[in-house]
Amino acid sequence: MKKVGVIGLGEYLPEKILTNADLEKMVDTSDEWITTRTGIKERHIAEKEEATSDLAIKAAKQALSEANLSAQDLDLIIVATITPDMPFPAVSCLLQNAISAKKAACFDISAACAGFVYGLSVAQQFIACGTYENALVVGAEKLTSVTDWTDRGTCVLFGDGAAAAVLSEVKEGGIVATYLGSDGGLSELLKIPAGGSRNPASKETVEQHLHYIKMEGNELFKIAVKSMTHAAETVLERAGLKFSDVDLIIPHQANARIIMAVAKKLGLTEDKIYLNIERCGNMSSASTATALCEAVKEGKVKKGDIILLDAFGAGLVWGACVIKW
Ligand code: UT7
Repeated sequence: MKKVGVIGLGEYLPEKILTNADLEKMVDTSDEWITTRTGIKERHIAEKEEATSDLAIKAAKQALSEANLSAQDLDLIIVATITPDMPFPAVSCLLQNAISAKKAACFDISAACAGFVYGLSVAQQFIACGTYENALVVGAEKLTSVTDWTDRGTCVLFGDGAAAAVLSEVKEGGIVATYLGSDGGLSELLKIPAGGSRNPASKETVEQHLHYIKMEGNELFKIAVKSMTHAAETVLERAGLKFSDVDLIIPHQANARIIMAVAKKLGLTEDKIYLNIERCGNMSSASTATALCEAVKEGKVKKGDIILLDAFGAGLVWGACVIKW
């Protein structure tokens, strides 16, 4: 099996920023509540006419340029998203067309906040066994398009953004191990109830706000801590490594308190955790993707470092990935 690594990264965050002070004017909330309960101060918001694929395209172009590859070199494009431009075609196909990646096979992954980790794992298998050479994995979301701006329990949490990674064969380092898990029995805890075949869009579904994210936050919090801890432990065991070997953990950014609880259970100190939740909020699949991209660009990941991506989200799904940089 070939060694597979990340050879280029790119990120796009919309310019417009919504602060906690802005939210104070929209719902009954406070900067103090949002900051202490979640760690979020502000989030990026896409323009009305900007769709998920628009964010993905910008991130993808940057990642390709950093990888020194042209779009023609790609033979696989995977976009992880729960906010596609439309039910079909897939965002990956729209992205393919926009960048002229004519050779690439394209599909989307619906694994919510763990989508980027799922995408990395799938792309790795294809390259490792020789089916494809160069893959683009994107985490892209316009979560504000499915946010209920009248529900203070959820609207303060989400933001928009995208990040992309180019994967290819590498001589040294690369993805050491991955682990994916799911529990569909807990699907009711986090969902958008309408807009699919179970409950197609109607006047009633719109009036009842059923096209927005519904979340049992409290219940999810506990499961998130448990699942992310389990995913991190399992993937490290698969990699044959110990927590003391990990240089940086890049977790899904749903809540700073969830991340700190996981870190405490794993015995990791704060300096080993990368956070962008304060500036970006929860961007689902784009959270781990942007956090990885930013950590590398800020010089927090050096050659030879062991990094651990750890994510959890709707499904429920969870996943972790160990990469030697
Ligand atoms: O992305 C992956 C999946 N998502 C997650 O894993 C999210 C996990 N859950 C969480 O992060 C947290 O549960 C939340 C941040 C969503 C909520 O924090 P919490 O500490 O669990 O708050 P809570 O839901 O227990 O609510 C506590 C109180 C309630 O008031 P009462 O009933 O105690 O009077 C809420 O009504 O806070 C109230 N509240 C708010 N107050 C001000 C809820 N939202 C707000 C708000 N501003 N925005």
